[in-house]
Amino acid sequence: MIQTINTIKALQEALKKDRKEGKTVGFVPTMGALHEGHLKLVDHASEENDIVVVSIFVNPIQFNNKEDLEKYPRDVQGDIDKLEKHHTNYVFAPSVDEMYPDEVTKHYNFGTLEKVMEGKFRPGHFNGVAVVVHRLFEIVHPDKAYFGEKDFQQLAIIRKLVETEDLSVKIKGIPTIREHDGLAMSSRNQRLTQEERKKAPLIYQTLCNASEKKNKETVEDVKRYVIETLNKNGFSVEYFELVDSQDLQPVSNWNEAESLRGCIAAFLGNVRLIDNIAF
Ligand code: PAJ
Repeated sequence: MIQTINTIKALQEALKKDRKEGKTVGFVPTMGALHEGHLKLVDHASEENDIVVVSIFVNPIQFNNKEDLEKYPRDVQGDIDKLEKHHTNYVFAPSVDEMYPDEVTKHYNFGTLEKVMEGKFRPGHFNGVAVVVHRLFEIVHPDKAYFGEKDFQQLAIIRKLVETEDLSVKIKGIPTIREHDGLAMSSRNQRLTQEERKKAPLIYQTLCNASEKKNKETVEDVKRYVIETLNKNGFSVEYFELVDSQDLQPVSNWNEAESLRGCIAAFLGNVRLIDNIAF
């Protein structure tokens, strides 16, 4: 039976008891509207820990677009129903006032990591993510925390946060879960029209086709191929970058990094979709 908790104090009291019994805690932070991708993180957490905490909090300070925040799907009861089949002990669903009783002034410096891609196109976004995740870590004190590779740059930011703030939590990155047609699962997919939903898998297909061109065509040509293919088909590509998987800095040659990642953000109508694959 899942216990739903709305206050920091109540969650900490419950966890204190579990800790006294020597139990380990796995944590999955989310913004709700849960899908199979989120549930996969929960499954990993339950395999590797005694207690699983899932947070559901639509974090206002990480949205740099008011409409995106307002339209973000919310269904906490539906989320809890989904979690019932996935071994969750606590759902932590705090209010905005509970999380942010005072104005947020904290500012992190992630250096070049936040200057590219999502960091460049969504100013303030990663600072908002870091503030909430750091705060949640301080509340939950998890042994392990689970994040999806779907948000590849976010995962790198969280690893950096843990390193620079010297936090004891172990960060686990989990591969992206996709629909049958390849579309990366995302809470925002709900906002696509039927027609847009049919088109959306072209992002993943194009990334896969592009990765076949590695070492055969130049980095520049492959980047152009991705952007032109999608823009010709009704998408509006915000960026497509080929980056070093470690520091997320763009490369200009295939041999510039040991491991490469192709990362994209594209609008379909007014829905912004992101995806990435290993190259
Ligand atoms: P949210 O978008 O709800 O995602 C919660 C977690 O689920 C993130 O770690 C994300 O990478 C992962 N995830 C989303 N879609 C996935 C998929 N298709 N496959 C695998 N994992 C997937 O990311 C956030 O919330 C927020 O920024 C948060 C970290 C909770 C801070 O507010």
